[in-house]
Amino acid sequence: MTLTGESLPQIKTAIPGPESEARVDDLARSECPAITARRSRRERESGVSQDPIVWRRAKGANIEDVDGNIFVDLTGAFAVAGLGHGHRRIVEAAKRQSEELIHAMGDVYPGEPKIALCRRLAEITPGELTHSILGLSGSSAVEAALKTAAIHTGRSGAIAFWGGYHGLGTGALGATAYREEFRRPFVAQLNPQIQHVPFPDSYRPPFGMSFNASPAEVSDAVLAHIRETLSGPATAAESVGAIIVEPIQGRGGEVAPPPGFLQGLREICDDFELVLIFDEIYTGFGRTGAMFACETEGVTPDILCVGKAMGGGFPLSAAIGREEVMASWGNSSGEAIHTSTFLGNPLGCAMGLAVIDTLVEEGWPARVARRGEQIRKRLEVLARRHSQRIGRIRGRGLMLGIELVRDPQTREPDGELALALTDYCRHHGYLVLPSGRHGQVLALSPPFVVTDAQWQAFFEVLDRGLEKLPHSGAP
Ligand SMILES: Cc1ncc(COP(=O)(O)O)c(C=O)c1O
Repeated sequence: MTLTGESLPQIKTAIPGPESEARVDDLARSECPAITARRSRRERESGVSQDPIVWRRAKGANIEDVDGNIFVDLTGAFAVAGLGHGHRRIVEAAKRQSEELIHAMGDVYPGEPKIALCRRLAEITPGELTHSILGLSGSSAVEAALKTAAIHTGRSGAIAFWGGYHGLGTGALGATAYREEFRRPFVAQLNPQIQHVPFPDSYRPPFGMSFNASPAEVSDAVLAHIRETLSGPATAAESVGAIIVEPIQGRGGEVAPPPGFLQGLREICDDFELVLIFDEIYTGFGRTGAMFACETEGVTPDILCVGKAMGGGFPLSAAIGREEVMASWGNSSGEAIHTSTFLGNPLGCAMGLAVIDTLVEEGWPARVARRGEQIRKRLEVLARRHSQRIGRIRGRGLMLGIELVRDPQTREPDGELALALTDYCRHHGYLVLPSGRHGQVLALSPPFVVTDAQWQAFFEVLDRGLEKLPHSGAP
């Protein structure tokens, strides 16, 4: 049967089905156990089955697993499949390019697609972001940005945010402060000059501020704290060369900062001569209803990090900076001091070009903005119906989160409910993921092409799940 991408879920077996189970058992014999989410142990402990399904193929918003079950993907496979899985133009670009040139020599003998992609990135990014360092993962783009800031300012420290997720390579992990357990075993390998400050989440205000604090008050408090950190007696100004921030925190729980916060960071960076790095690895390429989330606020960073959706499924990323900042590296004298074997891989660059052309020619950012508003309204209705369990609808565009709480008064996060709902949705054919520092947010970063019927059936599943699942919070 051909997969159209527009099917409603078709679940024929238990989830996971027998074929998935057998393959995951097989995988467990040869993959590091830290990696694949084999959670049957948790099933024994909590009664919730979490073993993975194994994917066979995907199209549009649909995933088919090895048991022949069809799911609707509302994760975008980690926000990568913005245009949908197996998009025709991206597949054609990959086929065409793989017949011409699959691999070149990044910094020594570049392939043509790399040249075209760097030019295109300079064209579509805001302001004067003109010079790229390509990479193969979000982590590598962040590390390129942090290295650039260190070279430019002579200061290798940075300010980053609690709940921020920038990747797990040891360079990027220094900035990541999503959950402590990701950092703890490696602390000795992380940059000790990166300082973390609270993110201005107006639903859970930092510094013991009251829930009644306005978003502007929360934003001002965090900005003042950063200024103090940079001016205090043990002055961070001597070691800090950059501020790195996600314009909307993704894995941290789809948390958008108050309006004006990014502008406040821009002003601090200008005052203290810091490099402002926006990590748009999650938010970039149309996800929030603009090509890049920073455009909504009209604030341009010195370096923009992108990845995820950029390669249409091929591992591809970039740190794109202002000419003056990137020029601090100096000219390559024959051996590039920052490169990698696969940098500017022709296949990935050709796919990245197809992604950009499709987003621009088909007007996807504006379409995502409109679609995001419709979906948000529907979620707000659901939030009112389940006001004891849903604390807030978060995010922007098609980067949305349902914040689950045990008690709307105390706002105590309900990670258990998010996990149980994730499981419930999967059993009913919808793939979603929890996010947030307590795993309390049901995150939606779907392909942009999810149909009305697919959304409608999802709202029904979610509504039933919220009705049926036991309430772990206040009576
Ligand atoms: C904002 C952000 N930055 C960086 C990363 C790391 O990207 P990667 O996993 O490709 O290294 C992620 C991944 O989720 C992300 O969401």
